[in-house]
Amino acid sequence: MADLNLACVVGARPNFMKMAPLLRALEDHPHVNAVLIHTGQHYDENLSDVFFEELGMKRPDVSLGVGSGKHGAQTARVLERFEEVLQEGTPGGERYDRAVVVGDVNSTMAATLAAVKLGVPVAHVEAGLRSFDRSMPEEINRIVTDSIADLLLVSEPAGMENLRREGHPDDQLHLVGNVMIDTLKWLLPKAQARNAHRRYGLQPGQYGVVTLHRPANVDSAETLAGLLDVLAETSRDLPLVFPIHPRTEQRIEQFGLGAKLTDAGAILRLPPLGYLDFLCLSSQAKVIVTDSGGLQEESTALGIPCLTARPNTERPITVDQGTSTLVGNDPEKLRESLREVVSGTYKRGSCPELWDGRAAERIARVLTASERSFR
Ligand code: UD1
Repeated sequence: MADLNLACVVGARPNFMKMAPLLRALEDHPHVNAVLIHTGQHYDENLSDVFFEELGMKRPDVSLGVGSGKHGAQTARVLERFEEVLQEGTPGGERYDRAVVVGDVNSTMAATLAAVKLGVPVAHVEAGLRSFDRSMPEEINRIVTDSIADLLLVSEPAGMENLRREGHPDDQLHLVGNVMIDTLKWLLPKAQARNAHRRYGLQPGQYGVVTLHRPANVDSAETLAGLLDVLAETSRDLPLVFPIHPRTEQRIEQFGLGAKLTDAGAILRLPPLGYLDFLCLSSQAKVIVTDSGGLQEESTALGIPCLTARPNTERPITVDQGTSTLVGNDPEKLRESLREVVSGTYKRGSCPELWDGRAAERIARVLTASERSFR
């Protein structure tokens, strides 16, 4: 019988690289039984399965199969199904002592709400991040999750400040560093050995990587067209690799913007890539253009210039200390920053403290420490 039964919840692509190192670190604590629960928010092979394989993560012990849907429906399905799982107990028939959630997707918030209402204390990994932009669904997820979770595990100092300002007592907060960078440091040699760039005819340091999927960038035809125009123009001097998220793919088709990519100089339009191929490409790129939260952090850890296609960020350390610049969805700002990168005048950054590959060990220690860690 385990002393501590943890319900470890993942749902969407950016969750997997945060949970994988934590599950590994928990293996050093034999009295812990970590049950892996996949909500199924992401379900495609290339948004989900490939990550379990490449991150060496066990298959989910429990799958909720919630699938896609409007925010209300998706959230409600996780709430309903996760509540049942918690009430049924672990596959071994024991009671769950705690739930562990990561990141800021709908699954994170819904799982937290279900657990807290059943009196199961929740630890939130990547707590405290705030963009102060409530039009982002993730911001709402972050605020709700942190306000009801019991233990808040934080990746950068701004997160601690936000949580203190919101009234959380110090004994709830732990600055543990960035667990996603644990995965990056662990798998970088294996990723680079894959030479994915060669497969696409690219030379290290002589191409850019693009990802776009935020509703604010891809759900408006005009905004998306403006961004694609700058990318098409850039690709005449610098080849670009663009692994396209299903949401963006749907919008490009719906708005009839495919020709902007096919007629461009050299934009390689790819399906979403697995973790290893993507890290191989991003770690040897000249520049990354993205609206992803995780990629802002990964590019900072890698020292690669990152032009963030957002007006704000919940990860300010990537701008203040790292390699990121906020360019919004303003084609002119993007163009100007791309010029700085190409001419070699772009700023250099450094890797934040505690983004050292050992965050999961610190989290595992906090999770397995005395009950006093929880309210
Ligand atoms: C979600 C997260 C976002 C995260 C992103 C990473 C929320 C609110 N958003 O956004 O924070 O940055 O994941 O990818 O939780 N789809 C597929 N296959 C799948 C999953 C989705 O084709 O396996 C398509 C569906 O048409 C779906 C759409 O993508 O409607 C959007 O998926 P969804 O999970 O709602 O949000 P993301 O945009 O992926």
